[in-house]
Amino acid sequence: MAPPIPGRSARPQWWSRAVFYQVYPRSFADSNGDGVGDLDGITERLDHLSDLGVQALWLNPVMVSPMADHGYDVSDPRDIDPLFGDLAALDRLLAAAHARGIRVTMDLVPNHVSSAHPWFVAALADPTHRDRFIFRDGGGPDGSEPPNNWVSIFGGPAWTRVPDGQWYLHLFDAAQPDLNWEHPEVFDDIEKTLRFWLDRGVDGFRIDVAHGMAKPATLPDMDLTENELLRNKADDPRFDNDAVHDIHRFIRTVLDDYPDAVTVGEIWVHGNEQFAKYLRPDELHLGFNFHLVQTDYDAAGIRAAIDNSLDAAALAGAAPTWTLSNHDVPREVSRYGNGAAGLRRARAMALVKLALPGTVFIYNGAELGLPNVELPDDVLQDPVWERSGRAERGRDGCRVPLPWSGSAPPFGFSSTPDTWLPIPADWKALTVEAQRDDPDSTLTLYRRAIALRTGRAEFAGDTVEWLGDSTFRRPGGLVCAFNAGAVPVTLPAGEVLLTSGPLKDGLLPPDTAAWLVSA
Ligand code: GLC
Repeated sequence: MAPPIPGRSARPQWWSRAVFYQVYPRSFADSNGDGVGDLDGITERLDHLSDLGVQALWLNPVMVSPMADHGYDVSDPRDIDPLFGDLAALDRLLAAAHARGIRVTMDLVPNHVSSAHPWFVAALADPTHRDRFIFRDGGGPDGSEPPNNWVSIFGGPAWTRVPDGQWYLHLFDAAQPDLNWEHPEVFDDIEKTLRFWLDRGVDGFRIDVAHGMAKPATLPDMDLTENELLRNKADDPRFDNDAVHDIHRFIRTVLDDYPDAVTVGEIWVHGNEQFAKYLRPDELHLGFNFHLVQTDYDAAGIRAAIDNSLDAAALAGAAPTWTLSNHDVPREVSRYGNGAAGLRRARAMALVKLALPGTVFIYNGAELGLPNVELPDDVLQDPVWERSGRAERGRDGCRVPLPWSGSAPPFGFSSTPDTWLPIPADWKALTVEAQRDDPDSTLTLYRRAIALRTGRAEFAGDTVEWLGDSTFRRPGGLVCAFNAGAVPVTLPAGEVLLTSGPLKDGLLPPDTAAWLVSA
C-alpha cells in the first residue's frame, strides 16, 4: 500500500467513502404550508433518508437571503432565512440527523454576497466603503463603458453601474456582488461564519464556486468566443486564479480545528492538474468532479470520465467523488433521453456510480427517478431566464418539489397546492409512497444498492480495474457491468448481487447494469 501523502491522515475519514444526499431545501418537504420546503420539513422526512441509507446530507443554502438566486445571494451568513425556519429548526435537524448517524453539511458561498448584505448597502451609500467589493471606474470618455468585457455566468455583463457612476463586478446576478478577497475583513468574516456553523454541530461545507473568489489584479478582458452560459472555458481570467489557493489554505486552517468536518468544493476547472491543486493536503478535502455529469450514456465516454476522475483525485491523494446531477444541471433521466429509456439508463448509471470507490453524491429526487420538468414561462424563477434575455430557461426544471404521497399535486410535499414550482400532475407513480414497497422501483434499487455498497466487503479498495469497455472490478471483488450498446450481452462470471433492470434470458439487456461478485 502506498504511504500516506504527507499531511493526510492515515485513518480513512468518514467522508472518503460516504454516500451524500443533496437536499435542495426549497423542494424537499414543506412543513408550514407556504409552498416552499423548509428545515422542519427535512427533519420530518428523515426516515426516508435513513431508509435510503445515506450517511450525510448537503443542504443547499439556508442562510438569510433575498432569494434572487434561491439562497446563493446571502445577506446574513450566520442566520437561517425565515423561509426555511430559524436556528432552532437547524438545531432540531442536526440533532435528529445525528441521532440517526447522518451527518449534515451546509453550503458556503464565499465568492459573493447579496446586494442586501450590510457591507454592500454601506458600499452603495458611501464610496469610501467599497473596498470589500470590486468597484471600478468605467471606460470610455464618460465612464459609461464597463471596466472590462467580462460577462456574467448567468448572461449579460458582469458589471453593473451605480448611480454615482462607478461599476461593481458580479460574476453571477447583479444581486450577487463579488467580494474582494484581498481585503482582510473578508477573511475574518468567513472564519467567523465557518466557526459559527461548525460550533453548532454542522459537519462541514460544500464550497460554492470554489474556483472563483480570486481575481487577477489587472482584470484583463476575457475571450468572448463560444462563451457558454453557466460555464467557463480554459484560460478564463474570471476563474481559477492562483491566489484562490491561499483562500482555500486559510479555510483549511479553520477546518483543521474540527478534525471530523469536511469541505467539498464546487470546482469547474480545466484539466486534472488544475483540479488536483484544490485538493492538496492543506486545501479542500474533496472536490466535485463533473465528468460524469457531462457524459452521455456511452460506454467509451463513461469509461473515460471514470478514469479521468480517478486520475484527478489520485494526483492529489484525495478520494474521488461522483455525481450524476445536482440543482444546476438537467436531471439524468432527461439527459439520457427521457421516458422509459432515460429512466433505464439513469438506473444503470446509479449502479455504476455506487460501484465506484470514493464519495458519492445523490441529488434529491434521483432516487425516485424524477425527470426534468418542462415548466411554462410564467413560473420560471431562475435569474438565468431574464439575464439571458429569455434565451435560456435556466435550472428550475431540475428543482421541482419532490412527490411524497397521494395521487395529485402537491403529492404530500406541502399542504398547499400552490407550491413554489408546480409539480406535474402525472407524478403519482413516482411518489415515495408508490415506490417504497415496490421491489422494482427506482427507490428500492437505490436502497438496495446503498445497503450493499455500505455493508459488503467486496466494495473495498480504492481502485478500478477494467475488464472490458464497460465492465470494471474493485479489489474487494465487486464487478460492475453496464450495457450501453444496442443488443443484450453476456454477463461476466460470478454471482449476481443486483441489476438495474430485468435480465433477458440470462443476458444483460441494453441500458442495464449489473453487480456481481466474482467467484
Ligand atoms: C454555484 C451554485 C449555483 C449558483 C452559483 C452562484 O454554481 O451551484 O446554483 O447559482 O454558484 O452562487
